[in-house]
Amino acid sequence: MTHILDDERRALAARVALTRQIDRGSVVLSSRLAGAFLNVPRHPFVPAFYRRDGERFTPWRATDADADAWLDAVYADDSLITEVDGIHAEDAGPDGPPGAGAPTSSSTAPSLMADMLDALDVDEGHEVYEAGTGTGYNAGLLCFLTGDQHITSVDRTESLTDKARPRLNSVGFDPLVLHGDGTRDFPADASYDRIIATASVRRVPPTWTARLRPGGVMVVPMKGALAGGMVARLTKLADGAAVGHILHTPAAFMPLRSDAGPPAQMPTDPHGPRRDTGLSARVLDDWTFSFFAQLHMGPGVVRTYGKNGDGLHVTTLYDPADDSTARVADTPQGVSTVIASGPRDLWEPIESAHRLWQELNRPRREWFTIEVTASEQLISYTAPAGHIQRWSL
Ligand SMILES: C[S@@+](CC[C@H](N)C(=O)[O-])C[C@H]1O[C@@H](n2cnc3c(N)ncnc32)[C@H](O)[C@@H]1O
Repeated sequence: MTHILDDERRALAARVALTRQIDRGSVVLSSRLAGAFLNVPRHPFVPAFYRRDGERFTPWRATDADADAWLDAVYADDSLITEVDGIHAEDAGPDGPPGAGAPTSSSTAPSLMADMLDALDVDEGHEVYEAGTGTGYNAGLLCFLTGDQHITSVDRTESLTDKARPRLNSVGFDPLVLHGDGTRDFPADASYDRIIATASVRRVPPTWTARLRPGGVMVVPMKGALAGGMVARLTKLADGAAVGHILHTPAAFMPLRSDAGPPAQMPTDPHGPRRDTGLSARVLDDWTFSFFAQLHMGPGVVRTYGKNGDGLHVTTLYDPADDSTARVADTPQGVSTVIASGPRDLWEPIESAHRLWQELNRPRREWFTIEVTASEQLISYTAPAGHIQRWSL
């Protein structure tokens, strides 16, 4: 009995510390949101998650030794990877999945969840749809904010929804948790005051705009080829369009999986003319710029990057639409070189995007607006002198 009370006290203290930490960061928590983080525990949703061990992912379970360190990790303001290449940490062997692997589900960092929930502005009684149940923790916070009978949460992986349901029940909530595609699977005729996605899309799926009620709000992580992840907050207008702005928070959400098939495979070794460039591809690691740069690239462009044999940065861009490839490598002399193959030099649009970004005085992402209609999706920036730039998504 004393043990259980001690554990409960420790978990409560950890929750209080996490809530304070979020509140001291970039998010000022409303009392309702603070109430959600104080009342909904995170640990029942993540009994096992992965730790990164170099290239490998090693499972860490509540039952492993050093329970205090485990609890500290659960209540740190970090994302917790729970699934790699479809293998859940609870089902993995002690060494984790074979090979390097890619995360396929995680519990988002709590301060980013707080930012997104703050933008979602959920009131009691709002009907809310979440695409990407994952562990169920965010669904739990949503249940606290609006009442569990008003929540529908959907994940494409059945084993995740099967795990999330009883965990939500164990903390006193019974929302509708569905296995399905978060862009397609809605209870018949349902419409929502709030829609939130916790996986990223390149464009806002038309079904979300259609299912949102006029005056409703959706919060959508968006990411293109270059990892410049952002979160859009949109309000639905009476005419059916949705308009809004980009949040200040950078966000690297995993992509919402679709039936479109795996991303294009990068050609191994591009051959073509070589030229010098004054712009190192490391510029794409600046998330403010990569957000801007991806507005200038085609929708299917993929990027890989790493270091060459001399330890210098190399980025490769590939557009499967026309088979253009650009390999941009740093050199010991300081300039970078571009090898471009195919019909277009893919580094050129990045160079001109960088010039424009500097001319515009490196605009911050929260100064961009977004407009979604049935026929187009536009990101806009209005310069202080009034000139408007627009990009189609
Ligand atoms: C970052 S995790 C979600 C985190 C979750 N909200 C939480 O609190 O733990 C992203 C989730 O999106 C799910 N997902 C990916 N594609 C999806 C789709 N098309 N429809 C629904 N869920 C999807 C993944 O299975 C993964 O669990």
